This record gives sequence, structure tokens and C-alpha cells, in this order.
Amino acid sequence: MSQRSCLSVILAAGEGTRMKSALPKVLHQVAGLPMVAHVVKAAEAAGASGLALVIGHGADEMRKAAARFAPKAETFEQEKRLGTAHAVIAARAAISRGYDDVLVMFGDTPLIDADALTVARRRLAEGAAVVVIGFRPPNPAGYGRLIEKDGKLTAIREEKDCSEEEKKIGFCNAGMMAVAGAHALKLLDAVGNKNAKGEYYLTDIVEIASAQNLDVVATEASFESALGINNRVELAQAEAIWQQRRRYDAMLSGVTLIAPETVFFSHDTEIGADTIVEPNVWFGPGVRIASGAKIHAFSHIEGATIASNCDVGPFARLRPGADLRNKAKVGNFCEVKQAVIEDGAKVNHLTYIGDARVGAGANIGAGTITCNYDGYSKFFTDIGEGAFIGSNSSLVAPVTIGNGGYIASGSVITESVPDDALAFGRARQKTIPGKGKELRERFASAAAAKKKAAGADH
Ligand code: UD1
Ligand code: MG
Repeated sequence: MSQRSCLSVILAAGEGTRMKSALPKVLHQVAGLPMVAHVVKAAEAAGASGLALVIGHGADEMRKAAARFAPKAETFEQEKRLGTAHAVIAARAAISRGYDDVLVMFGDTPLIDADALTVARRRLAEGAAVVVIGFRPPNPAGYGRLIEKDGKLTAIREEKDCSEEEKKIGFCNAGMMAVAGAHALKLLDAVGNKNAKGEYYLTDIVEIASAQNLDVVATEASFESALGINNRVELAQAEAIWQQRRRYDAMLSGVTLIAPETVFFSHDTEIGADTIVEPNVWFGPGVRIASGAKIHAFSHIEGATIASNCDVGPFARLRPGADLRNKAKVGNFCEVKQAVIEDGAKVNHLTYIGDARVGAGANIGAGTITCNYDGYSKFFTDIGEGAFIGSNSSLVAPVTIGNGGYIASGSVITESVPDDALAFGRARQKTIPGKGKELRERFASAAAAKKKAAGADH
């Protein structure tokens, strides 16, 4: 089959009114990726080399988004939404280039898995002209019903056009279809709009093809993989199903999730074996974790690279560009952004490290802040190997702390510190014997005098 060429036509022109959103429906995200981008990924995984995206509502925004998530896709604008067949025909220029297989997919079914598409393509390779991907939803209302006669698919009837008898059929049209490229345009062009909605239905090609004695078959996909998203409740359901699948895969690939239902992955999270993830951890996009890391509870991690055997959290926030090398540690209430924490370095408590390098084995004391921003520009802090930053220090960037540099607690460091130097950036302590007692007595008698004066007023 791999030598058969394949075009995926993805329908994404609809308005998605029920999302009640300024954003086109298919750009709403599941696992941090637009729904339609999940569909593109599935098409590619099933071997589609051509990608035609049919857009309409929010066309400019769709074009811009597509350039990011599917730079190879061609976009076709369907100016009037006259039905699913009409939408496919919008991509006529792509279809007429002559592909062996044409996969018609919907942009709002983010859970579609490549296997269902591969199975459909295999049926085309075996000689079918049209393969309809069917499914059995718990409640078939609203879906097109698959009408079969003598084991053959003869028609798809939209709910609005169904007889009472036909409405009882549980096997429904998931929406996706695989059509032999040689027949695709001829079949689509034969579709009319004499139905309850006055639309050009893609589903009519089933009847047209069977009337021409072409082979038309249905395959079956899981309900979940065909789940179409129309509102934000369904969007959350899709997210939940996606997360559940991803957690399952993570655990089977050797990652311990102590409370799997509380860990959230992104579409591109990479996480190595023998990593332990405690409860309530969020992975935003762009996270790569090698093996043997410990991610403690309540950590929020995005755009971060975490090498082997690192220790993160609890309550750590790793932002884009955080790059933890082997055995680095970022502890509770620490935030790291655009910074390399080299091998074995420790950032353990209540610290902000941004636009910085922390050298191997360095120890950053509690409450350290890299002051990286002056309100206009960002500046770099370079902390050398084995340096020790005393607690509650501010490192005002740009600044360099040399290898083995030692910073006294509570310092505000504005000038670079050479290798192995000790730097104090704070006022020297002054201790006055007996002065504390004297102050206390003075304050107490002042307060008593005030109280007495207030009493005399009444
Ligand atoms: C469609 C199927 C139905 C199936 C159901 C599964 C048809 C005629 N019906 O119905 O059998 O059970 O999906 O969810 O195909 N679109 C366009 N341009 C248009 C019309 C639609 O791009 O002119 C896009 C929509 O944005 C959407 C997809 O095509 O992504 C499906 O359209 P929709 O109106 O949701 O079809 P359904 O009535 O759900
Ligand atoms: Mg629909």
C-alpha cells in the first residue's frame, strides 16, 4: 500500500457556532494543539503525502495557523457552505492532480487514529471505490445511518431524511471516507442537493457509486476516534480521552504516574523510562524529559528540557528555555526560565533564575533572584561552576559570578565577582549592647502616656 499516493482533504470551513467563540472551532486545542492539527497528524501517519485544507469561516486566521501546524498543506476557500460534498470539491485542484487514494476527513474530530484510516486505505487497495468509516455511538441521533443490503453498503441516510425504521439503525457514519482517486471527482460532481437541508451531501456518493456497481464498503472505528467536537463540553471530553490514552502509553513505556488522572501531558511531551511523576503535574508544550527524573507534586513545566536523574519540585515552575542537565535539582517554589542549570547544580528553595547559566555543582541559596529585567531589556547572569550564592541575594544582571565564587547572604550583587572570590553586597552589621532594652522601655512609656491622655478626654 505504501506505494499508493494519498491526498487528505480536511473539511474545516464550518463556523462552529456552538463553541461561542471568536476563534474558528477547529483551532480550539486538545493537548495544546489545534484540533485540526491532530487530524493532520493522523492523515500523515496514515501515509497522506498531499494535504488539502478546506477553510471558510475565519479563513485568514486558519491560513495563518495552518502555516504553523501544517506548512505543507494547501488551503482552499469554500466561500459558501453548501454541504460536505461541495466542500470536498473546493479542493478540486488538488484532487485532480491524480492521487490513488483520497481521504476525506473532518477538522473537528481530533481523536481520529491513523489505524482507522490505514484500514480504510487497505480496502481501497483491495479494490473498493468508496470506504466509509462507520461507528456505533451510544446515541445515534444526529448522525447519518449506514444502510446495508446483503452485506453491502448501499446508502447513507442523514437523520433528517431517515424513515422511522432507518432511525433505529445503530451503525452510523463517522464522517471520514476513503475514495479511490480515479472515481472521486466523477462521484462528487454527480451529487445533487435534493434533501431536507438542501445541501450537497458527501454521503450521497455511496448511493451513486453503488448504482454504478462500484464496490462500496464500511469499516468500523471506535466511538472515541470518531468523536466530533461541537461545543466546549465535547472539547473537554476529547481532552479527557486524549489524556487518558497518553497516560496509559506513558505508564506502559516505563513512566510511573502515582495518580495518573492528575497528570496532564501535551501533544509533544517526551518522557523517558523510570521517570516518576507525582500527583498534580502539568506539562505544557515542548517538554523533553530523559530517564530517571523525579517530578514532584504540583509542578508546572513547559518548554523545558530535563536530563537524566534530575529532581524537580514540589511546586516548581519550569518555563520555556529551562534546560536542566544531569542530576540538577530545582526545588520548591522555584521558577526557572531561559536558563541552563548544569550538572548537579542545586536551586532548592524560593528562587527565580531567568536568562542565566548556573554552573555545574553550584548551590543557589533560598530566595536568590536573578534581576534580569530593567523594564525594557533582558540581561544575562552567568554563575560559574561550584559557586555558592548565599540566601536572599539579588544578582543584578548583566553580571558574572566566577567559578567557586562565594556570595554572602542578603547581597545585592551589581558587579561581577572573579573566580574563588568572596563578595558582600550589603551593609555591615552594627550591634549596640543594651540598646534594645532601652528602646522597648521608651516605646512602652510613650504608649502608656497616650492611653492616659485618651482616658482623660472622656
Ligand atoms: C456529517 C455527515 C453525517 C455524519 C456526521 C458525523 C454529511 C452530509 N453528513 O454530518 O453522515 O454522521 O457528519 O459527524 O456529510 N463542512 C464544510 N463545508 C460545508 C459543510 C460542512 O467545510 O459546506 C465541514 C464542517 O465544518 C465539519 C464537517 O464538514 O467539519 C461536517 O459537517 P457537519 O455540518 O458537521 O456535518 P454533520 O451534519 O455533522
Ligand atoms: Mg457535525
